[in-house]
Amino acid sequence: MLQNSRDRAPSPSVQPHLSDHEAFLADVLTGLSQPRKSIPCKYFYDQRGSELFEAICALPEYYPTRTELGLLEAHAAEIAQLIEPGGTLVELGSGASQKVRLLLDAMAGPVTYLPVDISGAHLQQAAARLAADYPAATVIPICADYTQSFDLPELAGVRSGFFPGSTIGNFAPAEAIVFLKRTARLLGPGSGLLIGVDLQKDPAILLPAYDDAAGVTAAFNLNLLARINRELGGSFDLAGFGHAVRYDPALGRLEMHLQSLRPQIAAVAGRPFRFAAGETIHTEDSHKYTITGFQALAGRAGWQPVKVWADPGQLFSIHFLRAAGAVPRPRTQAVSDLPT
Ligand code: AVI
Repeated sequence: MLQNSRDRAPSPSVQPHLSDHEAFLADVLTGLSQPRKSIPCKYFYDQRGSELFEAICALPEYYPTRTELGLLEAHAAEIAQLIEPGGTLVELGSGASQKVRLLLDAMAGPVTYLPVDISGAHLQQAAARLAADYPAATVIPICADYTQSFDLPELAGVRSGFFPGSTIGNFAPAEAIVFLKRTARLLGPGSGLLIGVDLQKDPAILLPAYDDAAGVTAAFNLNLLARINRELGGSFDLAGFGHAVRYDPALGRLEMHLQSLRPQIAAVAGRPFRFAAGETIHTEDSHKYTITGFQALAGRAGWQPVKVWADPGQLFSIHFLRAAGAVPRPRTQAVSDLPT
């Protein structure tokens, strides 16, 4: 285990995953071969895509980031009490580890922080910065894809998960249940989970959040085609596609698409794909929940609601959930068990 220190950067424990390039190619070829073309939204996040996403988070129309930050700030002390002192805080998809600072600032006792992220270089930098700023915390970075199974080091104390940003909304509900079940297994019986969940609302607020006036979200969406051109030998003409968003109230989801502006053919790794005028590539779903709807979904994955916070405008919610089962007793011998 690495103890946090200013002069020693924590090094991530790397867990194996498939070749990123092979997986990207296979997913794009499969997705473009479907009658309804689609590409998984996880491929948005190359270097450029990650920069554009950061810019999205600062847009006036994109309410989720600032609303969630406001909730974390306002309720940090109460949240910190639910995360047991001496326990372990596991952030799934930790990125720059910014939001967790609000929690660490509010936590009185020592904590072990495990940031989990797929990007090893960024993870190491973020963990080193955090370790320097929070000398009382033990920081153990874990380089892993949190959408797949992975292991955590054996540590004493209750584990609490942290999954902010409403990334849960980018899973279809059935996938979200699978993810939440896997997270319950990962964190163990009696563990906690602090999770950000975007709420259902008037499409007049929702649609501009995903189709901003400055065109940042459009650039984020179109960067997927630029990435395919760069990394997979694609021949997409970016001027031939537009950014399209729609809200499906029955499914409670905001959809992003790339819409072909004319009939055209684009190739990927030498394979041609035909597009009719108006045809789309479905690139992302962002599911929006009611508070009780999300609690019911989490319940199907074995998580019980403990506390929920929402802003007065009911834009965004943060849930603290508890996994079923008793917290395992520490393996140390109790005084009464010792021979007299
Ligand atoms: C990462 N995720 C929670 C964002 C969302 O709101 O669904 C991704 C995003 N797509 C367009 N804007 C933001």
